[in-house]
Parts: sequence; structure tokens; C-alpha cells
Amino acid sequence: MSVKVFQTEEVQNLLKVAANLEGEKGHARARAITHRLLSDLFKAIDDLDMTPDEVWAGVNYLNRLGQDGEAALLAAGLGLEKFLDIRMDAADRAAHIDGGTPRTIEGPLYVAGAVVRDGISRIDLNEDDDAGPLVIRGTVTGQDGKPVADAMIECWHANSKGFYSHFDPTGAQSEFNLRGAVKTGADGKYEFHTLMPVGYGCPPQGSTQQLLNVLGRHGDRPAHVHFFVTSDKHRKLTTQINIEGDPLIWDDFAYATREDLIPPVVARTGGKALELKTDAYKEIEFDFRLTPLVQGKDNQIVHRLRAVVEA
Ligand code: DHB
Ligand code: FE
Repeated sequence: MSVKVFQTEEVQNLLKVAANLEGEKGHARARAITHRLLSDLFKAIDDLDMTPDEVWAGVNYLNRLGQDGEAALLAAGLGLEKFLDIRMDAADRAAHIDGGTPRTIEGPLYVAGAVVRDGISRIDLNEDDDAGPLVIRGTVTGQDGKPVADAMIECWHANSKGFYSHFDPTGAQSEFNLRGAVKTGADGKYEFHTLMPVGYGCPPQGSTQQLLNVLGRHGDRPAHVHFFVTSDKHRKLTTQINIEGDPLIWDDFAYATREDLIPPVVARTGGKALELKTDAYKEIEFDFRLTPLVQGKDNQIVHRLRAVVEA
């Protein structure tokens, strides 16, 4: 038999005191958010008639998620990170900010501290027999289409096993393999010489994958390359490009794929002259169009815990 207690005075009082909603001490915003989240949880328990076993399974799951260090992975997998993008897109539309390269999620695998090179950087530091050479190049422009000098493009992606350096469980990669940063000159041009990535999959024994299994979902992403693009006079852009043709492009467990972020992959020759490992190589041309500061401020800076390594 289902009982409903959420609206009782006893429960409503419990929520208020648990969050110290009407208190003076602590942080007012934290009290308000805690009260709301706890209320929504209590209401869901009531509405769905969750059993104590189900509630404790959830509590124990959170413990394991923390032990695995996977909370930010789960945030991507449950669409929370995509939801924040949807909100930022809507805020931009409301402020009539348009014409920029679309944003998409950062994901949890960025590492700060890569060396910054002028215009061009070779970022495949480790050999990878299963990956062919890839050149990613283009121009950073403003909304007016004019090149932006002194922009910084940071780039990071997975190897042919779908693993990112610094987070690679096999330990096969050196720090900053397949991670780099380039500063543009007056022509706004950037170029990364790298190797073709393969799609990432959640750690198969981890708590993110455990929940996805229960939901009947996979935990895989199509092959992709991440970017941060920063410039003094523009808002920071956080985005990714997908590798065209990947079968998971529209089945990304982190929901990061967007129509304008799938540039063509072109087969080229002449790689030897560029000191690539084979003469045949793949090239992706992708331009970044930045949007201006809002009242002199960059409202796209997101603070989150990120790995930092001294290069
Ligand atoms: C995750 C991994 C990624 O490589 C990425 O880009 C986004 C999310 C993740 O494990 O959640
Ligand atoms: Fe990624």
C-alpha cells in the first residue's frame, strides 16, 4: 500500500531544519539549493513509493561513485553536462549572441599545463601503430569572420585504444601525449599534427558503466577531439569535433554531437614533407568563430576541478 507523507507538516518541517532553510549561519544559496534538492528527492520517494532497499542501494551507489572518482563521468553520461549546454545556448539566444561555433561539453578528461606553441604543434609524442596521421587545421575568427591573433587553442583527444593520456589505465602514454596548445599569429591560423583518435568507452568495471547497464544503455562515445579556444577579446569556447563516419556519431553516451561539429575528413598525400609518419594522411579543416565579451566580461568561464600537470 502506497502512503503519501511529503505534504505533512512533519516532513515539511524536517526538510526546513535539515537544510537550515530559515537559519542565519552557513551559506544562504547552499541552504536554498539543499532544501530544494532534498525536497525533490523526498517527493520522488513518496511518488514512486521507493522502498528502503532502493534508497539504500542509491546511497551505497554514491559511495562507490566517489571511490571510483567517476562523478564527473556520470554527469556527462546522464546528460547533466549537456543540459548545462542547452541552458547556455538558451541564454545566448535570449541575449542575441549568435554566429559563434557551437559549444559542446568539456567532459572530465582535460589536463591543464600543455606547452603552448606558435601556430603549429605536433602532439603525438608516443608511437601508436594502430593510428594514422591526422592534421587538424583552420583559422580562429571573430563574429565578423576576421582572423583573431593571439588566440589560444587547446586540444586533447584519445589514442587508438580510446584512452586519454594521464587517465590511461594501461599506463602506456606519457603525460601530454595527444594534448597540446597553439597560439595564433596575425593570420589567426592554427595547426595540430596528431594521430587519428578512436571513440572512448567508460571504464567497464566502473560505477558509471554499472548504472548504464542497469538502464540498458552503453557507455561509449564516437571518436572526437576536444578544444578550448581563448582570446582576450572574446568569450572562451569549449567545443569538440567528431570524426566523420564514426557509427556512434548520433549515439554518443554523453550527447555531445552537434550538426555543425562534424567537419569532413579528407584523405591527403604529402605527409612525409610534413614529417608525418606516413605520406598518406587525413586532414580536417575546422575554423573557430568566437563571440565577443559581454559587457567586457567572459561569461563562459566554468570553474570545475581539473587535472593540472607541470609540463
Ligand atoms: C566522458 C569521456 C569523454 O572523453 C568525454 O569527452 C566526455 C565524457 C566521460 O567519461 O563521461
Ligand atoms: Fe573526450
